[in-house]
Amino acid sequence: MNEWSSLTAGLPVWLEQARHAAPFGKVASYIPELSKADSSMLGIQIRGADGRSVSAGDCGSPFTLQSISKVFTLIMALMDNGEEIVFSKVGMEPTGDSFNSMLKLELVQPGIPFNPLINAGAIVVSSLIAGSSNEEKITRIQSFLGKLAGRGPLQLDEDTYRSESESGNLNRSMAYFLTDNGVLQSKVEDVLEVYFKHCSLTVDCGELARMALVLALDGVDPDSGERLIPRRYVQIAKTFMVTCGMYNGSGEFAIDVGLPAKSGVSGGIMALLPGRAGIGIIGPSLNRHGNSVAGVHLLEQLSKEFDWSLF
Ligand code: DON
Repeated sequence: MNEWSSLTAGLPVWLEQARHAAPFGKVASYIPELSKADSSMLGIQIRGADGRSVSAGDCGSPFTLQSISKVFTLIMALMDNGEEIVFSKVGMEPTGDSFNSMLKLELVQPGIPFNPLINAGAIVVSSLIAGSSNEEKITRIQSFLGKLAGRGPLQLDEDTYRSESESGNLNRSMAYFLTDNGVLQSKVEDVLEVYFKHCSLTVDCGELARMALVLALDGVDPDSGERLIPRRYVQIAKTFMVTCGMYNGSGEFAIDVGLPAKSGVSGGIMALLPGRAGIGIIGPSLNRHGNSVAGVHLLEQLSKEFDWSLF
């Protein structure tokens, strides 16, 4: 990255401008615990391949990964099973529907979820994580994601997990539907425990930026140079981030920002500049697609300023 000095000077200003967009969105409330978040919060860290980083705003506090975790559980499922098995159970196409829609499961045969980033697809992916018990599967996810974040195992936010598990009837109905379609073979409650728990793992902006940086470097650890993910699986993950990472806002985001990215209903956004940098953002106020309204605004501004779009 050669923009460091302008980024360091401009980032706090652009962040405060983007924060003005927060009142135009809403904090997620369908998982009651998430509704406690501060809607005006906005933080960002950008971490470069050259070891430099810059941050601004409220980036110290932890937040749950929510759907951002789906990128990494997909990578783990691919590493555990290979492409053929994973893509016999989940498709590769965007839906144009909201992240929790199950409409197309019934409309389009053979009833496998359209892609691994919508809830139905991520639930199937959770069933493909290797481990002889749920505890082992969850521990593996915590360790792998922690390694990408440059720390020990990621911590579980028990309150968010419990809140989602208690209110997750739409996800539960999807899982039963998938069982009936023969797509889900494990017990519904077991799969949902893995799914709800990986959504409830916590990071801060810096850790999220580092996870993104590993993807930006095609799966190589930025500090040790160790290959953590096969290149092909990073390529698959990045492609899904472009086509489905911001749900039914992915097309608009590709036009306005033009970077691979993944959002979560906690307000997190992970984005990356291939070969150059990883970006972690938190801004809990969401737009109608479930993406951080101020976070998207900030990325639009940065992309325009530094001509970051890949397209
Ligand atoms: O299953 C859910 O509804 C949440 N655990 C994750 C959804 C999510 O983050 C969608 N993102 N924008």
